[in-house]
Amino acid sequence: MTARDEAADELPREVNPDIPSAARVYDHLLGGGHNFAVDRQLAEELKAAQPGVVRIARENRAFLRRAVLFMINAGVRQFLDLGSGIPTVGNVHEIAQAAAPGARVVYVDHEPIAVAHSRLLLADNTNADIVDADITRPEDVLAAEQTRRLLDFDQPVGLLAVTIGHYIAPEADPVGVFARYRDALAPGSFLGLTHLTDDFTAIRGEQIVSTMKSSRDSIFPRTREEVLALFTGYQLVEPGLVTTSTWRPGSGLAGAGHSEQDGLYAGVGRRQ
Ligand SMILES: C[S@@+](CC[C@H](N)C(=O)[O-])C[C@H]1O[C@@H](n2cnc3c(N)ncnc32)[C@H](O)[C@@H]1O
Repeated sequence: MTARDEAADELPREVNPDIPSAARVYDHLLGGGHNFAVDRQLAEELKAAQPGVVRIARENRAFLRRAVLFMINAGVRQFLDLGSGIPTVGNVHEIAQAAAPGARVVYVDHEPIAVAHSRLLLADNTNADIVDADITRPEDVLAAEQTRRLLDFDQPVGLLAVTIGHYIAPEADPVGVFARYRDALAPGSFLGLTHLTDDFTAIRGEQIVSTMKSSRDSIFPRTREEVLALFTGYQLVEPGLVTTSTWRPGSGLAGAGHSEQDGLYAGVGRRQ
């Protein structure tokens, strides 16, 4: 047990250090330190269940960076990042505000450690904040004080749903959830997303699903058609819906030749 685990007694009451969370497992996969022994154990199980999972996480993060810069180049100056996770290297506000000082960012997550660390990181940043909410309740997210203060829905918004859609259960109606966010966005806004798929034989969807069942976040891989449905009302920009490493490669870790191992569909669409 590490000093961080021993400090679990001092955590907010809603944090359960005995149940792994997707936010903390992902933090560990990316080399972060905001996780408990149970998260590291589950990360090891995931590595065994799905070879290359660390690369999958890194390629996802590299896609996030390219998608934000694409939107900045298209004139977007405000972002809503759904399921933003525990702050790690290359957070959306860092990428956006380095490229366009004054860019505004609202993060959304429901995991207490992710929310607490985001609050600490953003304490002195007047142009970025976090909403503690369930992203499957768009009305709560859109009505939150932070969202209303920082985002102007008469102007284009960059909506980010990066490795988040596959945490939405079918009964929670992912297409309907995405549609409610879309309806709040001005034309010229963008949706950038990644989503787990087991369309490719290299991806062991069943093993990933069963491994994640012991966490607080169950996972639901989807087919290409199901992921395309999340882009209803958007026009996909080139190269369309591909996988993380093949979406406009040229920076970061992206490299050709292993797209079927990416495991995540990736795309950016423009709100029509
Ligand atoms: C794998 S992390 C992704 C972090 C970041 N978007 C990225 O791709 O680098 C997924 C995040 O989604 C959050 N999450 C899952 N379901 C959620 C929900 N219904 N509402 C809010 N956050 C959710 C988890 O807590 C976790 O922090």
